[in-house]
Amino acid sequence: MRGLFVTATDTGVGKTALSAALAAAMAAAGQPVRAYKPVLTGLDADARGSDAWPPDHELLGSAAGMSPEEVAPLRYGPAASPHLAAALEGANMDRASLLGHAQAAAAGAAAANASLIVEGVGGLLVPLTDDYTVCDLARELQLPLLIAARPGLGTINHTLLTLQAARAAGLEVRAVVLTPWPQRPTAIERSNRETIARLGGVEVETLARVGRPARDELARAGEALPWRRWLG
Ligand SMILES: Nc1ncnc2c1ncn2[C@@H]1O[C@H](COP(=O)(O)OP(=O)(O)O)[C@@H](O)[C@H]1O
Ligand SMILES: [Mg+2]
Repeated sequence: MRGLFVTATDTGVGKTALSAALAAAMAAAGQPVRAYKPVLTGLDADARGSDAWPPDHELLGSAAGMSPEEVAPLRYGPAASPHLAAALEGANMDRASLLGHAQAAAAGAAAANASLIVEGVGGLLVPLTDDYTVCDLARELQLPLLIAARPGLGTINHTLLTLQAARAAGLEVRAVVLTPWPQRPTAIERSNRETIARLGGVEVETLARVGRPARDELARAGEALPWRRWLG
């Protein structure tokens, strides 16, 4: 199965922006694509606050032409790590059910001859259940990794730590994507890009800031990324 697993150095970095941009660009290019978010948390109104962006599964669904529920079969209200969010709701989310959903998403993509864009949850070492991390799931799906990272101060350490964890787990990292990349990057931001590439031995690309989370804008930003080569 062709696809990409999108993780990040932290939560709120740009996984959804990157995943939706990739899915929208593929759809706009006539390439079949499916999106999958293994676990979605923070759907409670008070947890969402005044974020102007729609929840992940809505944005990914709109980009990939799927229903939000199909994108994210497991959804919880509390804005907490998945293992805690499920527990707070008294839900029984174990490794087997998680894997079942992931395998169904992979089979759906394979049957449609589509690429699968998986948006991870938080960062690589986030527990999905008490004994199963995002990293474990990425290994199970056997998809190459993209790492969304911030352009500014602090990103070198976070990105190199994530690279180290990914490689220690045997995951193949296609690229780091700095997001949102400003129109006029500062000297620090340009230096960060070069430093991560050099110290991490990794391809570093950038995703432009989209003005609003609309399909055409996301597709335009995503089309600037070498996703055809990444899917290779
Ligand atoms: N390329 C981008 N264009 C516009 N906003 C971005 C971009 N990348 C990140 N952001 C901003 O950062 C916030 C967090 O991004 P998001 O994709 O939701 O992160 P994650 O999925 O990793 O939690 C978004 O609400 C958005 O405002
Ligand atoms: Mg997200």
